[in-house]
Amino acid sequence: MNRIFRINEKIKPFKKKIFVESDKSLSIRWILFSSLSSKKSVANNLLMSEDVLSAIDCIRKLGSKVKFKGNKCEIIGNGLKYKIKNNLILNAGNSGTLGRLLLGLLVNSEKKIKLIGDKSLSKRDFSRIINPLKKFGAKFSSNMNKLPIYIKGLKNPKPIYFLEKKGSAQCKTSVMFAALKTKGLTIIKAKKSRNHTELMIKNLKIPMSIKKTKKFDYIKIGGVKKVNSLNYMMPGDISSSAFFLVLTILSENSELTLRNININPSRTGVIEILKKMGAYIKITNKKIYKGEKIGDIIVKSSKNLKSINCPTKFNSSAIDEFLVIFLVAAKSKGVSYFKDLSELNQKESPRLNWGSKILSLMGVKNILTNNSIKIFGNPNLKVHKTIHIKGYLKDHRVFMMSVIAGLTFGGNWMINDQDSIKTSFPSFLKILRSINK
Ligand code: S3P
Repeated sequence: MNRIFRINEKIKPFKKKIFVESDKSLSIRWILFSSLSSKKSVANNLLMSEDVLSAIDCIRKLGSKVKFKGNKCEIIGNGLKYKIKNNLILNAGNSGTLGRLLLGLLVNSEKKIKLIGDKSLSKRDFSRIINPLKKFGAKFSSNMNKLPIYIKGLKNPKPIYFLEKKGSAQCKTSVMFAALKTKGLTIIKAKKSRNHTELMIKNLKIPMSIKKTKKFDYIKIGGVKKVNSLNYMMPGDISSSAFFLVLTILSENSELTLRNININPSRTGVIEILKKMGAYIKITNKKIYKGEKIGDIIVKSSKNLKSINCPTKFNSSAIDEFLVIFLVAAKSKGVSYFKDLSELNQKESPRLNWGSKILSLMGVKNILTNNSIKIFGNPNLKVHKTIHIKGYLKDHRVFMMSVIAGLTFGGNWMINDQDSIKTSFPSFLKILRSINK
């Protein structure tokens, strides 16, 4: 259903404390690890979004038993070898993470399985995991490395050496999952990316060694006979928080505290970048939970924002947040430059292109190439036009970025496909309403 969200007024000054929804990367990983254990795993505060529900649907089809009480979830999996029915079809919905991680887990499934997804996921590249998973011995047929994809695994997949150079946690994790199903040691040289999988593996006491250098992690991980259960209390998602950080920074006389957020350093590029641009952001109540850093984030309206020549070292740790960061660049003094970002066009929609398009609709001068964008900021930027956002493949982050733009810069906005937020952050608009009272 295409519900159109309309904005014709800026947000009023606010001072609030909020919780955002739980971390999507952690929620999906916990579900997939739990499906590998024959004991009961319990998660409290699991993210209840469409991507996560797609993961639950897939593991149920693979033989796991799942129970919910509100957002408490119990999973009893069926060990390292899934029970696969003939002609099984798994639907990853909108989630690249789910689709790619699942294929890694299916390398030892001897029956042919079909993986499908929605319109956006069906446009995305899977060669990045099909190629390494073929080295394990799995067979694939696909529509030019896109969904629908058929996978036929084998009883004894072979360990591999894998060079991951995109900084993609999805590729790294897919190969790590496959490695668990082999006899022998898989070696991965991976460009830095989010490390939730590694931390869960440590909690599960699965043998693994990691040698860290400045740019790469060298991971050695071997096959296992069983996977333990894992109980988890999900923290809030920094990627969901980012929309509220930028909302506050760009609003007048406002302050927000976001409580209990996962601030794992492999995810906090957004905080580093916004601080470099002159934003007021402080972290309090820091603690460590199962290796993940958690804290409360305090953010305030920030004047005198500065442009940034964004160091590429932040590209992986801020990959899901660039769209809203572009809004801060639009209000900064000077020209901001974001480069080597071709991966941004590989997301739920070609986000680098969409970022540029939305800025242009707002009247913000920008120069786009296939992997970079220059944004000409204006500290006095105000939008007076009517802007209609449509045809963006229902990318949740394009929707949320547009809402934040409308609420902070003004103008009359019509943003199609309100339901897109259900994939990662179903209560996004409800939380906004609670702030804008
Ligand atoms: C994710 C990794 C990132 C990110 C995605 C979630 C994950 O993708 O964009 O939203 O949970 O592993 P890549 O690893 O492909 O960069």
